[in-house]
Amino acid sequence: MDKDWEKYCEWTYSEFFSGIPVGSNVIEIGPAFGFHTKLIQRQKPTYHRCVEPNLHMREALEELGADVYPRHYEDFYTQRRPADVVVCCGVLYHILAPLDLIEKITNLSVPDKIIISNILVEENGFDKYTYEDENLSRQRRMLYDNPVKYWQKIKPSTLQEIIESQGYKLTKQEDTKEIWPKYVYYWQEYERA
Ligand SMILES: C[S@@+](CC[C@H](N)C(=O)[O-])C[C@H]1O[C@@H](n2cnc3c(N)ncnc32)[C@H](O)[C@@H]1O
Repeated sequence: MDKDWEKYCEWTYSEFFSGIPVGSNVIEIGPAFGFHTKLIQRQKPTYHRCVEPNLHMREALEELGADVYPRHYEDFYTQRRPADVVVCCGVLYHILAPLDLIEKITNLSVPDKIIISNILVEENGFDKYTYEDENLSRQRRMLYDNPVKYWQKIKPSTLQEIIESQGYKLTKQEDTKEIWPKYVYYWQEYERA
């Protein structure tokens, strides 16, 4: 594994995932290869469910100890999905309606804790995708096969306002400028107010 990536992963654990109470019921949206899944498993969750539409990831995620719901979040959140913790990292910029996912997390899971990360931007708005990927899915299609080649830019303070309007309080915020300068993400942790 790339040394910087390994360092970044350990940073996500010491700063965020280690704060997940041992024995929690965790929902992880869009884990892809499971780098975070492995770290979340250190907290010995009672139940760890991954919502990951990319079928190629299923076996690896199951081997890590997660239960996999192999569809999109839209199919998962058709009913209440209670959880103690929801992890939604690197997903908001992949989907066409990020506010829809946030609303579903806060109203259908009503977790005590939310850990979320997204690409750091200075302004809210739309931008063209600068990459496509064979494996990464997006709103019921693969990324490369999606006719809408835009993503929604959401500033950290905007995401904070939205999630706080749902009855949560921001408890921690960091960005990866120092630790992962290749793609700068902001990370936020919320607790139910
Ligand atoms: C960049 S990866 C993030 C991987 C990992 N969570 C991280 O932060 O490093 C984006 C993930 O979002 C997933 N995804 C895209 N659209 C989705 C949707 N509608 N529902 C659930 N997951 C989705 C992709 O399959 C992919 O696993």
